[in-house]
Amino acid sequence: MEINLTVNEKIRKVDVDKNTPLLWVLRDTLHLVGTKFGCGVGQCGACSVHMDGVITRSCLLPVSIVGDAKITTIEGLSEHNNHPVQLAWREIDVPQCGYCQAGQIMTASALLKQNNSPSKEDIKDAMHGNICRCATYQRIEKAVEKAVELTQTTK
Ligand code: FES
Ligand code: FES
Repeated sequence: MEINLTVNEKIRKVDVDKNTPLLWVLRDTLHLVGTKFGCGVGQCGACSVHMDGVITRSCLLPVSIVGDAKITTIEGLSEHNNHPVQLAWREIDVPQCGYCQAGQIMTASALLKQNNSPSKEDIKDAMHGNICRCATYQRIEKAVEKAVELTQTTK
């Protein structure tokens, strides 16, 4: 089935089975491999992307359901890898193996979009579904707090 998707502000035409999870269309068809496969059942957050700005697990989403919604992947989060969350992540040196990190960054950036001054609890709540097998959780929390600071000082 031919489907038009809006990914990272570009219209992309794909020819795939309508039930293919968006994750595999992003990775295998569009070669946007920053979005990762972790569990495939909505439990880890590695596959997180934004759909109209809202955090979405792409491993569970049949591509035919996306419709006109705008998909943003880690590759399209910012033009020069300079989204406040990305800057904070570098400053705090969050990643260890890196596998979960795109999902973490997409989740944190979706939180900041909805709430530019989240409390510690808001941050914990937003991030708690993103698993990191290297247990970088403390650095993730610090980096989200740093990103909030950067967002507020660059206003
Ligand atoms: S791969 Fe989608 S939530 Fe784990
Ligand atoms: S940095 Fe290794 S899984 Fe999170």
